[in-house]
Amino acid sequence: MTKNIGILVGSLRVESYTKKVAKTIATLFPDDYNISFIEIGDLAIYNQDFDDKNTIPDSWETFRDTMKSIDAVLFATPEYNRSVPSVLKNAIDVGSRPYGASIWDTKPAAIVSVSPGAISGFGANHHLRQSLVFLNMPTVQQPEAYIGNVLSILEEDGSITKKETLDFFQTIVNAFIDLIEKNSK
Ligand code: FNR
Repeated sequence: MTKNIGILVGSLRVESYTKKVAKTIATLFPDDYNISFIEIGDLAIYNQDFDDKNTIPDSWETFRDTMKSIDAVLFATPEYNRSVPSVLKNAIDVGSRPYGASIWDTKPAAIVSVSPGAISGFGANHHLRQSLVFLNMPTVQQPEAYIGNVLSILEEDGSITKKETLDFFQTIVNAFIDLIEKNSK
């Protein structure tokens, strides 16, 4: 059966390296996987009053509805100050509420962290992982996807063509697919 994979990218930058990595990874799924990039840049900042008083911004409603049809989530994130960029944390918070209606619950996930630096977004990767544990999302553990020194794998046009890199990305996708299949009801 076709699976819907949602990709959330933690950078809004037009020329985002993380988005370029995510776009390449998106091409490596089998044909019966339907991949969509989910917009998170327009989500109103989380404010619990909106849920408590039922004055939910349209952007939240659209996001929560869209995520209901998503079977599994790939998070591609840069690292901001050794943690998760606020735009991505905001999307996680918006999706997690109202209490008891989290759109994340039981959905398989994979995390890819990306950085021009050598530490490879480790801090963002693991802070995000901490939230996903609480949100009850089974998450790929191996291979760990720390994409450091990202400029060394990007061609001038933003594509990624090195065979070694694509082979590694494929192992990430394969592990994610295994996890999704194991968690299929
Ligand atoms: C960064 N950057 C960064 N890089 C890193 O490896 N660890 C970090 O903690 C931070 N912190 C940080 C904070 C803020 C506010 C900014 C704007 C940037 C650099 C970051 O990796 C770089 O800007 C990337 O290009 C961001 O990813 P995208 O937008 O290319 O996907």
